[in-house]
Amino acid sequence: MRYKPVILLPLLILGCNNSPTESDRVEVPIPTQTGEEIYMMYCASCHGAQGDGNGMIQLDRPARSFVDGGFSFGNTVYAISKTTASGIPGTPMPPFADILTQQQINRVATHVRSFSPTIEDASLDQTEMVVVDKPLVARGMIPAINSELQLHPRGIVIGNPDRFSYEYRVDDVRLLSVRQGRFIQRVDWGERGGSPLELLGRMVVLVEEGNPVGMFSTQSGSTLRAQLRATNTMQEYGIIKYDLITQKGDIVASISETCVPTTGTRTLIEQRLIIDAKEPILIQPPPSTDVSNAPLIPVGEHEFVITHAIYEGNTK
Ligand code: HEC
Repeated sequence: MRYKPVILLPLLILGCNNSPTESDRVEVPIPTQTGEEIYMMYCASCHGAQGDGNGMIQLDRPARSFVDGGFSFGNTVYAISKTTASGIPGTPMPPFADILTQQQINRVATHVRSFSPTIEDASLDQTEMVVVDKPLVARGMIPAINSELQLHPRGIVIGNPDRFSYEYRVDDVRLLSVRQGRFIQRVDWGERGGSPLELLGRMVVLVEEGNPVGMFSTQSGSTLRAQLRATNTMQEYGIIKYDLITQKGDIVASISETCVPTTGTRTLIEQRLIIDAKEPILIQPPPSTDVSNAPLIPVGEHEFVITHAIYEGNTK
């Protein structure tokens, strides 16, 4: 409100300067929009003029209220800018990267942040791991996904800068779930063992109820065990590498796995396996995915993609 006098002035000048001819056209500088004006124009319809989430547009999934500071994708201006630019796949929150300039996005994000001035920036919390421009990997105890399942003493969570994170069970290198939003709260920071990691994102994929069985076997049907070799965070998306091992302990294949969300109206998670097979192997993907039969991967290097649908609507 207090910005109003300043911004009304250039608008009035523009208004008076009606129908200029080619010759007397003067360069009128386009008035710079404030964060509040950009907000009213592009965001208020869903998030409400006061940032309380009560916009004019009725959504099946409510837009976020910014007033109470409940940001699941991070509450720093930087985090809000990223969410505004990229949107939130699988929800009505649209991406603005092609509509607004980075400067406009920063300004509107600052305005959004100002709706909840009393809360502290989440990144100031020393125990929260925040993924910024490179993937991060956290290792540790992972809480049970639901009450029927056990806590995994050894888990790995890969967080990518696009705010998707992937929870793996280490023992057989199985993807358990995919989350979106903030990354991890590390309660046992600096210590070994201790309390489990707290995964902060909202779950968007749960593979086989969070307790998937092994995916790989030999051509003759004997189970292959997956053994973790390494993780790699040098690229845009974190990579997890593992070997497939027979009961006797021979390595029959090496796999490099990356999970990437697809872009488009309907977001899917592609679990991309680059398989270097010394012997043919059979893959039995989870029943919930698009591949239902067990394809045979021949000897050599092959890519195999398993596609997971993400939940629409509200989930925890
Ligand atoms: C078509 C409706 C719509 C419009 C327009 C819209 N949003 Fe959203 N926005 C949503 C919904 C719905 C959510 C909640 C998504 C979810 O369930 O996580 C959301 C979530 C967000 C979040 C995430 C908050 C968090 O949890 O971390 C931010 C930040 C945000 N919007 C900013 C903006 C900004 C800035 C604009 C304008 C430039 C904007 N939105 C315009 C619907 C909208």
